[in-house]
Amino acid sequence: MEYKGSSAYDQHRFFEQYIARRYREESPNEKIKKPVLFELLDDVTDYEVLDLGCGDAFLGLELLKRHCRSYTGVDGSKNMCERASQHLKDRRGRIVHSTMEEFDFPPFTYDLVVSQLALHYIEDFSMLAKKIYKTLKVNGQFVFSVQHPLLTASFESLTASGKRNNWIVDNYFHSGKRVEPWIGEHVVKYHRTMEEYFAILKQSGFIIHDIREATPQKDHFKDIEEYERRMRIPLFLLFSCRKPS
Ligand SMILES: C[S@@+](CC[C@H](N)C(=O)[O-])C[C@H]1O[C@@H](n2cnc3c(N)ncnc32)[C@H](O)[C@@H]1O
Repeated sequence: MEYKGSSAYDQHRFFEQYIARRYREESPNEKIKKPVLFELLDDVTDYEVLDLGCGDAFLGLELLKRHCRSYTGVDGSKNMCERASQHLKDRRGRIVHSTMEEFDFPPFTYDLVVSQLALHYIEDFSMLAKKIYKTLKVNGQFVFSVQHPLLTASFESLTASGKRNNWIVDNYFHSGKRVEPWIGEHVVKYHRTMEEYFAILKQSGFIIHDIREATPQKDHFKDIEEYERRMRIPLFLLFSCRKPS
């Protein structure tokens, strides 16, 4: 069975294994992506923040600690929303159980829209980018990470353990649906080239300020072999853009 959007995260076993992986020692999310995300983000003091595909809203906790005025997380998974609501209990955060596609984006509301590793689940990124543009205040920031297109191009080189020892990059310019064998399930993702991400952001009206591939930093790793493995191929692609005044 193929799982689209959030649906895999509502399978109990998948959800628990995903969370365990997400926070494991040497997790690339923590060691590689997170430092770059925080380099890209503005000072969020007094910001109204929207997090698309917020997962368990751990980012919300961090942004609230950094004094954002409000945090709204949107996620299509019931499991994720429950976990996120527990994390935000008694804090200035709110979680909306909705797909990003169905979420009712209020115009000119947010200073920051952020999304971590969720936009490659979206088939029509162009439509969503336009909604994000509208929901931002003037000069508002849009920062997001996706699975790097070198990885989503082809999943042929995945081994039974889910680990790749070599990477096949194939059909790169054939963007569209891919099915990734991941955590024992078949998860639907949408491959887009770097050029497409860039063009969609530009067409939606954004000024693109930065694009990052999250080069691993040796001093963030305890395990040198893990660091060397992560130096072989990029895992993440991040963009920072702004709605111009
Ligand atoms: C890889 S997880 C990342 C979660 C979180 N952003 C993080 O970095 O920890 C992807 C998240 O996107 C959510 N998601 C996937 N497709 C979605 C959609 N169409 N609308 C809303 N959420 C979606 C999933 O439910 C899941 O929580």
